[in-house]
Amino acid sequence: MRIGKHEVPSPLIQGGMAVRVSGARLAGNVARCGGIGIVATAGIALNSPLYTGDNYFSAEPQALKAELAKAYEIAPDGVIGTNCMVAVTDFAELVKASCEGGAKLIISGAGLPMNLPELTAAWPDVALVPIVSSVKAAELIARKWHKAYQRLPDAIVVEDPDTAGGHLGDKLENIGTGQYDQYGTVRGVKAYMRDTWNLDIPIIAAGGVWDRADLQYALEQGADGVQMGTRFVCTEECDAADAFKQAYLNCKEEDIGLIMSPAGLPGRALVANVEAIRERDLEMTPFCPTGCLRKCTYKSDGERFCIVHALDRAQRGDTETGLVFCGSNAWKATRIETVQEIFDELFHSEIPLHVNA
Ligand SMILES: Cc1cc2nc3c(=O)[nH]c(=O)nc-3n(C[C@H](O)[C@H](O)[C@H](O)COP(=O)(O)O)c2cc1C
Repeated sequence: MRIGKHEVPSPLIQGGMAVRVSGARLAGNVARCGGIGIVATAGIALNSPLYTGDNYFSAEPQALKAELAKAYEIAPDGVIGTNCMVAVTDFAELVKASCEGGAKLIISGAGLPMNLPELTAAWPDVALVPIVSSVKAAELIARKWHKAYQRLPDAIVVEDPDTAGGHLGDKLENIGTGQYDQYGTVRGVKAYMRDTWNLDIPIIAAGGVWDRADLQYALEQGADGVQMGTRFVCTEECDAADAFKQAYLNCKEEDIGLIMSPAGLPGRALVANVEAIRERDLEMTPFCPTGCLRKCTYKSDGERFCIVHALDRAQRGDTETGLVFCGSNAWKATRIETVQEIFDELFHSEIPLHVNA
């Protein structure tokens, strides 16, 4: 799979997973195995020695560059990129730090990354990959990028709100209704880019891809590659604490649900402890030294909980009052495996995968 100037043997992107669920170790090992490894940028500095306990934002760019350097130690020639969320207030700084730190691509969602080409103009080799959940969102981005910056996406990730983990790109009431057509959207985005812009870029399906059969199905249904998040959590190399991985191993299908995030977006997570998370933060005086989100109901009116600290606690292993984001397939995890084992299962079979012409 080729995205911009960067080519990988296996058509697989490891989805960015904040806060530090996909750090250097996971991203580096995915890249070493022949996929695209993604360091999630949000909250990257929260456990960094560069953060002295005041406002972690000032430490984010340096911490991100250090994390990218560590990932490249694992896969010096690999394709490693970052995931930057439009919803965070240091989006521009994290995009620039990604480029300075050697990210080969930037995957960007949680909002429409309308000014991404402007932020990366000095680094033309960095491939730009927006995440969308509709053809309309892809149209808006392509039109704006073309008009304002004479640039178009190098690939597009189409993320399925019915299965993906973390923040989702649809209204809460629409999710799980059966209305959403994941591969219809993949084909729609592909056709739009071909017909309107004469551009044959990889369209990547994200959400619900767990095993080789799912991968095969995605390719048959018109995707050029897949982005997988949940499957990579229960790996030795995943950067989250063992207790986070254990929460996946212990969970049942009915433990996975939807929450309304303080960011104003729905999210998929393990939901049993959501009241405990909320109560913990409501007991504290609402105090936000950071202002990490453009829109945040915790900051504005003390409602719900602080999302970044809830995710940070979970990443460190506090699954009682931490928020464990996961995709709808988390219950399928039965053991801790290695990244290489996942690649072997997905790609190194005797029977070749049928890939789209
Ligand atoms: C723990 C977790 C954290 C995530 N964090 C982010 C994130 O920070 N930014 C983002 O764009 N997507 C995030 N996602 C979505 C993944 O990158 C990926 O697109 C999605 O989970 C794919 O579906 P799958 O988990 O079924 O493979 C997250 C997913 C999980 C499971």
